[in-house]
Amino acid sequence: MSKSDTSKPANSMWGGRFASGPDAIMTAINASIRFDQRLYAQDIAGSRAHAAMLAQQGIITSNDAQAIREGLLTILSEIESGAFEFSDALEDIHLNIESRLTQMIGEAGKRLHTARSRNDQVALDFRLWVRGQCDSAIEGITALMRAFVMQAEAGADWVMPGFTHLQTAQPVTWGHHMLAYVEMLSRDRGRFEDARRRMNECPLGAAALAGTGFPIDRAFTAKELGFDRPTANSLDSVSDRDFALEFLSAASICALHLSRFAEELVIWSSAQFRFVRLSDRWTTGSSIMPQKKNPDAAELLRAKIGRIMGAQVALLTVMKGLPLTYSKDMQEDKEQVFDAADTLMLALAAMTGMVGDMTANRDVLAQSAAMGFSTATDLADWLVRSLNLPFREAHHVTGTLVAMAESAGVDLPDLSLEQMQSVHSGITQAVFSVLGVENSVRSRQSYGGTSPVRVAEQVARWKAALG
Ligand code: ARG
Repeated sequence: MSKSDTSKPANSMWGGRFASGPDAIMTAINASIRFDQRLYAQDIAGSRAHAAMLAQQGIITSNDAQAIREGLLTILSEIESGAFEFSDALEDIHLNIESRLTQMIGEAGKRLHTARSRNDQVALDFRLWVRGQCDSAIEGITALMRAFVMQAEAGADWVMPGFTHLQTAQPVTWGHHMLAYVEMLSRDRGRFEDARRRMNECPLGAAALAGTGFPIDRAFTAKELGFDRPTANSLDSVSDRDFALEFLSAASICALHLSRFAEELVIWSSAQFRFVRLSDRWTTGSSIMPQKKNPDAAELLRAKIGRIMGAQVALLTVMKGLPLTYSKDMQEDKEQVFDAADTLMLALAAMTGMVGDMTANRDVLAQSAAMGFSTATDLADWLVRSLNLPFREAHHVTGTLVAMAESAGVDLPDLSLEQMQSVHSGITQAVFSVLGVENSVRSRQSYGGTSPVRVAEQVARWKAALG
């Protein structure tokens, strides 16, 4: 039921032309303070820089600027200690802080909003927040890369099955598989670095949308807040959220990578695979089946991409088709990004813990590597190299030998030389040297290949790069 609020006075921050206050439901739909209070530190930093600039330019007195800057620090500690009272009637973090400032220091507080609008203010605060999250993501990804490199170093020469279609393909090394994720994560990190670089321009001073007639110094505030430069177009500054979309896009791709390893962990830790043992710290038991050790963290990591990608789609949809410049629709940008960022940071930390703790079952990996005729390609390559067969023909001969082994219920190395020669008379005893998985991985020394020597080189490269 809508409760009329006409008895309430108009908003003290903008209510000059209003006779009465908003409907209670209007306040509920309009207020963003419950979520945008997360921007308090950025809002205060932006206002402090703005006040300093106003004084430097002679737009306000330095006494006023000092009172503002100190008052804002007091508010910062009030918020951090939990003493600050947030009010829905004051809509958002910007008005809550400004109103408290005026309550504290009087007249001077009312001068802070000179040559500024909430439009450039929110664009600034949110950009600062997302920039900080890029830094956190870069840090979290780097920690996870280190954990993978440690696994790769320990098992640079452990053989395991490599899969395509989740069918046995060719033997690979554990270290090589771990480093595949390091490569993906390094590109993820690069995406956050790129996004950060691109968003690092200061929108403050765009004011409502058109700039301002006051003689502001935008380079001053940009520098003060760690930006490379001020944004060059005031309309663009208050109306785009592509920096947040880039963050969500980088976060989605990163979460997608995490989900793929999470899925491998779910498969690998099953009783049927037993490739890895996850530590007790990252698993849970069942309340009814005493033998269970469930890979819950991995399963959740497999799922988290849903929230993050959902946030990206939601914000793209909010922004789609909006005319320039600011529209209140854009207030719907924050919760999505907050949730996605929280989810990503948690996911990175959980994955880092799990990778650091997991133990590969080296023997199981080696046994499994030999199953499923995994060295059939090595046999075909041997026929090409030693007998000069065209590859297609070698492929056919090998296929016949695989079928023979399969119907005999044995692996390729278990066939006798006579059986092999019945398919191709040129085959010699030397063929058996390529049928072992150790030899198979050792032979794949092409750059980027799975051979332990190549893996060791890549481990060394990453250790140097990651410090
Ligand atoms: N709470 C608003 C938001 O998040 C701040 C900007 C409001 N600007 C305005 N003209 N109403 O977008």
